Amino acid sequence: MGFQAFWVEKTDDGFTRSIIERDEADLPEGEVLIEVQFSSLNYKDALSATGNPGVTRNFPHTPGIDAAGRVVESSGGTFEPGQEVIVIGFDLGMNTPGGYGQRIRVPANWVVAMPDGLDPHSSMLLGTAGFTAAECIDKLEHAGMQPDSGPVLVTGSTGGVGSVAVALLSHLGYEVAAVTGKEDQHDWLRSLGATEILSREDAAEGADKPLLGERWGGVVDTVGGPILFNAVKSLKYGASLAACGLVGSTEIPASVLPFILRHVNLLGVDSVQLPLDEKQRIWNRLAGEWRIDLASLEESLTLDTLSDAIDRILAGEMVGRGVVSLGS
Ligand SMILES: NC(=O)c1ccc[n+]([C@@H]2O[C@H](COP(=O)([O-])OP(=O)(O)OC[C@H]3O[C@@H](n4cnc5c(N)ncnc54)[C@H](OP(=O)(O)O)[C@@H]3O)[C@@H](O)[C@H]2O)c1
Repeated sequence: MGFQAFWVEKTDDGFTRSIIERDEADLPEGEVLIEVQFSSLNYKDALSATGNPGVTRNFPHTPGIDAAGRVVESSGGTFEPGQEVIVIGFDLGMNTPGGYGQRIRVPANWVVAMPDGLDPHSSMLLGTAGFTAAECIDKLEHAGMQPDSGPVLVTGSTGGVGSVAVALLSHLGYEVAAVTGKEDQHDWLRSLGATEILSREDAAEGADKPLLGERWGGVVDTVGGPILFNAVKSLKYGASLAACGLVGSTEIPASVLPFILRHVNLLGVDSVQLPLDEKQRIWNRLAGEWRIDLASLEESLTLDTLSDAIDRILAGEMVGRGVVSLGS
């Protein structure tokens, strides 16, 4: 059966984007064929769509690290036709045709059953970005963070991970400080629950000092670089920073001093290879006790409007979450 897919090709002049007709027979082998109803736009999708070899090596390619929809066919008995499911991470949208096509075929051990409380649209409003925000908070809480630990700093706060982190932390009773480069989004960040806003320059101040005053009860960092390590130097005694992103830099100008003098923790967060049972546990939290209304974060996209949004997310101009309707 034919279906529409976003298509990135490598040419002599660089990488081109178009929408083409594909056939289910073109998809790789796998136990589960899924009719994709919604996907989402993450920073990593934009890297894939522009030929970043750290994300996608083989072109032509259909990006989309997120997909939600209905099972069309499933071998092995794990899923039923018609069942709603979510796929995020693993190799989806990297070197396996991803959620920017109306069909995907994937191994059964990549597929999460849609938990009660979420549906294809709301799960993709979260997507990998929202899932990763939740994973950061889950890991920080396991390391001891509580609402009375002190304000929690979120960097890259108007982005996908950052904006869901601000909203979720506020919902859970945390005081939230947000770092943003977008002066025109302060009111929006306050409407999500931030009570303090810092510019990127504020957050990078004091980079030459070995330690800074103890301010944060926890940090969700999406940017890396000097902002990340300044935040580590500003953690309260024993507190933790969850590092999940690299939009600012992959380098960290670090010393051991905050670790050996302040007893702080630098926690790594990966959503891609996280084992399926852990993925299901975090999705269940997002569908239950952590279910929040994220409507104000949504920018609705289609395959036709995706290319422009890819350019905006790469330029750091995207606000909130781009949800891609596949119209299938
Ligand atoms: N570890 C994982 O499994 C995992 C999962 C999901 C995402 N990630 C990573 O997390 C990061 C955020 O992803 P996302 O989808 O939320 O991206 P996004 O929507 O593009 O958000 C990133 C935000 O960072 C800020 N920013 C952009 N350029 C910056 C710079 N040069 N210096 C400082 N801040 C900058 C901007 O927010 P402001 O204008 O508000 O500052 C931007 O909106 C990416 O690096 C992504 O690859 C990792």
